[in-house]
Amino acid sequence: MSSARKTVIVGVTASIAAYKACEIVNLLRKDSFDVKVILTKDALEFVTPLTLQTLSGNKVMTGIFESPENWTPVHTSLADSASLILIAPATANIIGKLANGICDDLLTCVTCASRSPVLIAPAMNENMYNHKMVMANIAKLEKIGYKFVGPVKGHLACGYDAVGHIAPVAEIIKEAKKMIK
Ligand SMILES: Cc1cc2nc3c(=O)[nH]c(=O)nc-3n(C[C@H](O)[C@H](O)[C@H](O)COP(=O)(O)O)c2cc1C
Repeated sequence: MSSARKTVIVGVTASIAAYKACEIVNLLRKDSFDVKVILTKDALEFVTPLTLQTLSGNKVMTGIFESPENWTPVHTSLADSASLILIAPATANIIGKLANGICDDLLTCVTCASRSPVLIAPAMNENMYNHKMVMANIAKLEKIGYKFVGPVKGHLACGYDAVGHIAPVAEIIKEAKKMIK
């Protein structure tokens, strides 16, 4: 498949697994995708825009009120440009917001405004992941066609081995490529 210049929006949220997004962005760019990164405000605590803009070759965006390059609001121009929205890692919080139509930041607005496929790689504490609210939110998103990859069993930041670890990067990339239109 020719992947030249198709745009993948990579949403990075405030999980300890955020450093994995650096590798994901790097690999997608090496595969010739145009990679545009959206960091949530809380994700800024985990990874820097400098790292991700150097790896992606594009400006990293966080705020919904950032000046657009043209007259179009930043969230709609990003939404229209996407061949895929990949959220990796995805917190319980972003999953909850998307499942309930909450659009209070750039990543939720772009995802809601886009008609592209959406792939989500959750990462969180096992109890969070297994919580009925989180499970219900995932089920809601699956019902509207969003795809999930992982999480898997692995060593969690909370100190034990359990389900909640982000899926391996190679698996995320493989699933992402299958979904890029
Ligand atoms: C050290 C640390 C690690 C965290 N890791 C996770 C995580 O892996 N998954 C998760 O759902 N929340 C995690 N959180 C909680 C989120 O950071 C918090 O819910 C945040 O508000 C989510 O923001 P966002 O979804 O807008 O990025 C962590 C918090 C801290 C302090």
